[in-house]
Amino acid sequence: MKSQVISVREINKEILEVKVEIPRNWKAGAGQFVEVTVEGFFLRRPISICDVDGDQLTLVFKESGRGTEKLARLLKSGQISELDIIGPFGNGFPIDEIAALINGTNGRVYQESQGDHKNQRNSVDDQDSTQLTTKKLVLVGGGIGIPPLYQAAKEALELGLTPSIYLGFNSDGDVFYIDEFKKLGVDVVTAVMKQSMEGSWVLGSVIDALTSEDPRQIIVCGCGPIGMLSALEKWGHQGYLSFESRMACGYGICMGCAVKQTDGKMVRVCKEGPVFKLGQIDLQQRFI
Ligand SMILES: Cc1cc2nc3c(=O)[nH]c(=O)nc-3n(C[C@H](O)[C@H](O)[C@H](O)COP(=O)(O)OP(=O)(O)OC[C@H]3O[C@@H](n4cnc5c(N)ncnc54)[C@H](O)[C@@H]3O)c2cc1C
Ligand code: FES
Repeated sequence: MKSQVISVREINKEILEVKVEIPRNWKAGAGQFVEVTVEGFFLRRPISICDVDGDQLTLVFKESGRGTEKLARLLKSGQISELDIIGPFGNGFPIDEIAALINGTNGRVYQESQGDHKNQRNSVDDQDSTQLTTKKLVLVGGGIGIPPLYQAAKEALELGLTPSIYLGFNSDGDVFYIDEFKKLGVDVVTAVMKQSMEGSWVLGSVIDALTSEDPRQIIVCGCGPIGMLSALEKWGHQGYLSFESRMACGYGICMGCAVKQTDGKMVRVCKEGPVFKLGQIDLQQRFI
């Protein structure tokens, strides 16, 4: 599909936000992606859905290599007025299922009691003897893994959830999209590994910033570098992670993007993923 460019914004020196026109009936969910043609390159580049709003699609991408650098140059200089996009592809974050789970228990889960009942979920009648806790959605993003969580936050809010957002960056100079999240009305905690000025952020990794949260009470959705995903996998009890893999066809034919699951079976990041359940993917293998 040829999509008219509506706006191009340089978020910082290497990250670009581009808004394009889409048909009103074009639907895509958080964590899904499109494949974008870059003139002169045979393979399309996968970019996540950042936001779908009426007839506007927002993509946010980093100049990471020759293809994305060229795309950014063409957009910034106004040499192209439309993007050639196909998609959406893949399975995204199942925000509706998460909302059903959380709302279905009226936001309450019952902490497992000790001793004989250790493996039994307690009923509402047991409230006196067990502690009622609220299960909530936490979205964790790192670097250029952050854009798909914007759409995830929007979908969650539409379904009556109030997600907490944790965003991690290498340095305070890299911070982006915080205001966009805040405008949605969600709580955002920012973590930076290095800081050059004072700011309202946690100094450390995004996992360090999660210390006030109890992972047993959380459904986590994460997108970011593999180190962050590995740390989230250790931290989390329930949730979903979005993975990257080098892609060729982008829609399930070539097997170029296949990764190994923990049960040894191979799955395609472009087709069965990019979002997988916590614990589903073998993190010992080499990723991009
Ligand atoms: C599902 C998915 C969603 C993504 N969403 C975003 C996003 O929202 N914003 C963003 O900035 N980046 C995103 N990426 C990464 C983005 O696709 C790569 O940065 C981009 O393809 C690099 O292309 P290049 O030509 O600049 O780099 P080069 O290194 O020159 O690319 C050479 C080839 O390798 C492939 N490749 C290189 N790095 C990656 C990578 N990380 N993932 C997949 N293929 C890669 C390229 O597509 C190309 O075919 C996503 C990747 C995947 C798999
Ligand atoms: S990129 Fe071809 S099967 Fe996934």
